[in-house]
Amino acid sequence: MVADRGNGILIRPIRSHPKVASRDGRSGLCMRRGTLLTQVLTVNLLLIAAAVLAASIASDPDNTLRDSATIGLVLGFALAATVAVNIWLLTRRFEPLERLVDEMESADLSNPPQAPATVTGSREVVSLERSFHAMLERLEAERRSAASVALGAQERERERIARDLHDEVNQALTALLLRLEAVRRQSDDPAADAELAEIGELVSRAMRELLDLARGLRPTTLDDLGLEAALATLVEEAGREAGLAAGFEVEGDVERMPEDLQLVAYRIAQEAVTNAVQHAGAEHLRVRLIGSDEEVELRISDDGAGYEGGRARERLGIAGMRERALLCGGELSVESAPGAGTRVTLRADLPMRMRMEADEAETERCAS
Ligand SMILES: Nc1ncnc2c1ncn2[C@@H]1O[C@H](COP(=O)(O)OP(=O)(O)O)[C@@H](O)[C@H]1O
Ligand SMILES: [Mg+2]
Repeated sequence: MVADRGNGILIRPIRSHPKVASRDGRSGLCMRRGTLLTQVLTVNLLLIAAAVLAASIASDPDNTLRDSATIGLVLGFALAATVAVNIWLLTRRFEPLERLVDEMESADLSNPPQAPATVTGSREVVSLERSFHAMLERLEAERRSAASVALGAQERERERIARDLHDEVNQALTALLLRLEAVRRQSDDPAADAELAEIGELVSRAMRELLDLARGLRPTTLDDLGLEAALATLVEEAGREAGLAAGFEVEGDVERMPEDLQLVAYRIAQEAVTNAVQHAGAEHLRVRLIGSDEEVELRISDDGAGYEGGRARERLGIAGMRERALLCGGELSVESAPGAGTRVTLRADLPMRMRMEADEAETERCAS
């Protein structure tokens, strides 16, 4: 499940299914295969034995051959040939089915495998494999659209709460401060005066915290000034509050990023910076935003403790980053090792529309 701190909206990413059956559990197919193989072999053996006996009796009316070794030899040869042919045939027929079962068991639904260009095997297996890949594609499309709806709802909810905090609660606290100030002016009791001043200070602090909270929920700098300014503020505040050397750099052109990609990049940076502050114990934090005509890259790195265990250690925060990256067609990588810090990288292609605009601008520039 994905839950962003402070908002309560949960998204359940479809992760790789626990294997329906373990390697041993796979014996479901192996058992069926074993049973079918045994059944086919047994029936074949009985038929061959009956046919050989019948043929020998029919071709030897005097019964002179009945006890001879020839019957045993013919029978043995026929049985061995039957077993060999059956094993060869059935193994060949089952091999693509086993491959498909392997593929189904190991399919990671958070990163569905591409359908192979050519599918081999019997007609039934080919059609089964095609249906499986079509089902994976449908699941992936469903998952993306559900996650996109949930993330959209989450952003709208954050925006509403931030607005309410700012407009309603903040206004009420401002009115309270003004009333306190008025009462203070009218009072001539120094003790009450000091008490009122202290209450006023507490209210001011609550207002500051409230505004910080509202800003975190919906960074107005992102709406008003764009990603670059919002990231600069985020990094500056994190560095100041956590007491670490934090730097933000921009390279290339990042102006043309679509709004949804800006929001995704901001939320990923927010979580990665929070992680660096909470878990890394780092001295340095560096955030880089690199733009080109085709893609943008956002890198958040720290020189802190790092962690081992890779994806197994990831929890809601990193899962949420991955989910957001997937939604904008991007890719997220998290590299970390004990003592070597952590680096989170988001790479996303700019939409074709943006690239074409860039190409047109370049053509115009060259023409003029
Ligand atoms: N920058 C980092 N430095 C050190 N450890 C980290 C860093 N980022 C993540 N981690 C480790 O990975 C775990 C999972 O992170 P995350 O998915 O964000 O969940 P949460 O922050 O809620 O614990 C953290 O609990 C922490 O142990
Ligand atoms: Mg976290």
